Amino acid sequence: MKVVAFNGSPKGEEGNTHVMVGAFLEGAAKAGADVENVFLAEKKIDHCRGCFQCWLSPTAECVLKDDMAELIGLFSSADIVVFATPLHNDNVSSRLKIFIDRLLPLGDPHFAVDAGGETVHPSRGGECPKFVMIANCGFPEQSHFQVLRLLAQRMARNYETEFVAEIYRGGGAWLTEPAAADAVARYTDLVKKAGEEVVTTGRLSEGTRQRLEEPLIPSPEFVEIYRQTVNRSWDEALGGREQR
Ligand SMILES: Cc1cc2nc3c(=O)[nH]c(=O)nc-3n(C[C@H](O)[C@H](O)[C@H](O)COP(=O)(O)O)c2cc1C
Repeated sequence: MKVVAFNGSPKGEEGNTHVMVGAFLEGAAKAGADVENVFLAEKKIDHCRGCFQCWLSPTAECVLKDDMAELIGLFSSADIVVFATPLHNDNVSSRLKIFIDRLLPLGDPHFAVDAGGETVHPSRGGECPKFVMIANCGFPEQSHFQVLRLLAQRMARNYETEFVAEIYRGGGAWLTEPAAADAVARYTDLVKKAGEEVVTTGRLSEGTRQRLEEPLIPSPEFVEIYRQTVNRSWDEALGGREQR
């Protein structure tokens, strides 16, 4: 089994998203999968021009000559694709969005009808991999992932596949905060378990899913403590300067 992660954080290996992706892939590898980790920030991926030439090309070739041909090959070779992103304006990062748009050559231009009676483009390139979504955000609550949860449903429909795990982490600033190392270690152990489960059983168990939704620190005051910590660190960074 092959698991490939595409991480849309502008910070790549230094980012909070990578703490989650690294743990997930470690668990997947432990369960026997071949894993590959792509930092989209290191790749040249231009915006889709919307010309649909890939749909006219007998070899599904895009007119843009950048790293995307290689990445589509990698995507298609995977059994499980992980879309990983920091939350940007309640959505995926622009890097991940450009990457997803550039998957257009995998679709067939014709209109078909899905099981729910909605119009859909059939796949051109055979069976689509299963998907996983991994995301973190700066705000502490899990409610900020509403758009991503809906996006996952729509992507599963569009690509005629399923999300076998969605792992969302509010309070993401703490993923790389040394003072929160113990809590983060407990959390990353759980994300590793998620990676193992997806490879060994094909999906995330309900028990692990529920535990992944719990706050990093199991305290009713977590949200307030986190807000105060973040505010303090910004005050320090601002060095007493007033923000307008
Ligand atoms: C342009 C931009 C938009 C953001 N929008 C949100 C947001 O809508 N909600 C939120 O909770 N955090 C938001 N954040 C914070 C990031 O999600 C957060 O810093 C995250 O931990 C970054 O992950 P990374 O280090 O992997 O890039 C935003 C950050 C940036 C730079």
